[in-house]
Amino acid sequence: MNRELQYKMEQVRELLPSRFPLHAPLALVHSFGCQQNVADGEKLKGLLAGMGFGFTEDTANADLILYNTCAVREHAEDRVFGNVGALKKKKEQNPSVILGVCGCMVQQPQVAEKMKKSYPYVDLIFGTHVAHQLPDMLLSLLQEGRRTLNLDDSDNTIHEELPVRREAGAKAYLPIMVGCNNFCSYCIVPYVRGRERSRRPQDVLEEAKRLIDEGYKEITLLGQNVNSYGRGLSEKCDFPSLLEQLADLPGDFLLRFMTSHPKDASRRLIDVMAGSEKIERHLHLPVQSGNDRVLAAMNRHYTIGQYRDLVGYAKKTIPDLTLSTDIITGFPGETYEEFLDTLHLVEEVGYDMVYSFIYSRRSGTKAAEMDDPVPYETKVVWQRQLLKAVRDISERNNRARVGRTFRILVEGAGRTPGTLSGRTSGGIVAQGPGTEDSIGQFKQFKAEGATSWCLTGTIE
Ligand code: SAH
Ligand code: SF4
Ligand code: F3S
Repeated sequence: MNRELQYKMEQVRELLPSRFPLHAPLALVHSFGCQQNVADGEKLKGLLAGMGFGFTEDTANADLILYNTCAVREHAEDRVFGNVGALKKKKEQNPSVILGVCGCMVQQPQVAEKMKKSYPYVDLIFGTHVAHQLPDMLLSLLQEGRRTLNLDDSDNTIHEELPVRREAGAKAYLPIMVGCNNFCSYCIVPYVRGRERSRRPQDVLEEAKRLIDEGYKEITLLGQNVNSYGRGLSEKCDFPSLLEQLADLPGDFLLRFMTSHPKDASRRLIDVMAGSEKIERHLHLPVQSGNDRVLAAMNRHYTIGQYRDLVGYAKKTIPDLTLSTDIITGFPGETYEEFLDTLHLVEEVGYDMVYSFIYSRRSGTKAAEMDDPVPYETKVVWQRQLLKAVRDISERNNRARVGRTFRILVEGAGRTPGTLSGRTSGGIVAQGPGTEDSIGQFKQFKAEGATSWCLTGTIE
């Protein structure tokens, strides 16, 4: 860790007892949204731990509450406003409590202003580029009682020096890049996360080695579009090469990755996956729509023909591959016939998992300016039709897995008492009777039954 950061963290540590004289303060950090945000939350926790905070999940016990927010859909933002509103009472009862809202949602200036105005009891409001300045913000607050509103987005460096506090367990997130350059017309992410930047391969490899040494069994590589990893780095390294080098590291572990933009997913990526048992048998390939006109309006830069070719190659090369996707229903101007193209594609590909979202207007994006004549209620009906088809397909796929044996990583308790839940290398949920000492370990699993969302069977 660099000296300056360490010094500031020490200063905060020394000042904390003046605000919390009776006990060591506890922090609650809640990350909404995607895994990248969860990974950012782990850095914020690393900083807080270094400054002397303990942690709690319980709002009532927390001395510092930090909401790390998501802006991807309106619903995500509404939840945060609701949660922050509910903290007013707590601050009135105990003014020494420190409240903060950070992340993607408040990186939008109009949202940050609204937050500042409507919730004057929030002490810290800061965006996605300045999380490393948390010690400075706490110092201003503790020394001068100064609130922070910091949306500065000029710092594009990846701060390798930040400590990370991961959740205990067998699974770790490993961000390999941040930001996004794709500007899909519906999406706010490029505006709130800034331009794409990749970590150096040696930094990623070092961190992965440490995680394996610490006993993590599953490492998920994160980026908004992992397939564009390496662009702009001085050393030449693309995503398939990085994945290959990571899979060559010694140890018993599994590599997952998300997300793959179809426009950049290459046959070489599939070949590298096929070449190593340490790489998951799962490809998340968000298609968004099954219609070329809609895809062009979304600015996705691929056609359904190209997408089909890639999926065909992947299925042929990795026969037990699990495929999943994201779909937006009711993009501005989408007709029912165009929606049906999506439905047909879903049936043709036979995805095991589909994450479906009703289009949400994000101000500042291109799509926000487009005509959107279809009423929300109709979009809900379309989505229901899609979800019904998806359930039938997943159940059919899972039934075909009955009788086979899989290696699973046991993750925790299952739905019914006395059972455990894990995942196959393809990401399929597998549940069966077992005892807690198997949690965090690879086990053999024999599939004996199937539903649309899981396999049931025996863990050996
Ligand atoms: N970078 C990833 C996706 C990040 S956002 C990728 O390109 O695959 C996760 C998903 O949220 C997207 O795939 C999309 O399906 C959905 N999404 C993004 N913006 C949306 C919006 N405005 N309305 C509805 N869904 C949206
Ligand atoms: Fe959003 Fe598209 Fe970037 Fe994904 S690739 S984060 S959907 S702009
Ligand atoms: Fe992720 Fe939401 Fe931000 S999906 S990148 S937390 S807008």
